[in-house]
Amino acid sequence: MAGTLILVGFMGAGKSTVGRILARRLGRCFVETDDMISAKEGASIPDIFARKGEAHFREAEEEALGLLALKGGDVIATGGGLPCREGRLDTLRAMGTVVWLSADFDTLYERALRGGERPMLAGRSREEVEALYRSREPYYGQAHLMVDTRHLGPDQVAARILHALETRARIGR
Ligand code: S3P
Repeated sequence: MAGTLILVGFMGAGKSTVGRILARRLGRCFVETDDMISAKEGASIPDIFARKGEAHFREAEEEALGLLALKGGDVIATGGGLPCREGRLDTLRAMGTVVWLSADFDTLYERALRGGERPMLAGRSREEVEALYRSREPYYGQAHLMVDTRHLGPDQVAARILHALETRARIGR
């Protein structure tokens, strides 16, 4: 597979876990945009949201993306909101192959609630989070590939992605 592999999807999609597996299998570096931001700011993502606000975090995402665009070949797990700006998917698609890890909202919500502190869930009702998800779907939907993760473990998701990448490489897309 040539180029960068970029995983997108809502919170709870499994981008970090699957990304790590893929990087290992492909012999690539694994990068998380949240980790880049956290390292640069010297603070956790919840702390950045609490101290500097969401707008600041979104600017930091933009900056992280700019740095990643300079360097090809990694496996990148993006934060759930990173692709959700006008033109952002075009930028990501120009960097490499974009894969959407999808599932139904209920599954994503349950997983996201289980998986640690997430500022975008704090203080939002389930209905509000679902509305956020619906508003983001059109962006995720612009990925090159979509894998439905609903009934799959991370290894199976990774295997599906690798298979899809091989197929794309074979047919030259
Ligand atoms: C966010 C998702 C988080 C993180 C930040 C904002 C979002 O990443 O980037 O809390 O807007 O959906 P995960 O998708 O890895 O949870």
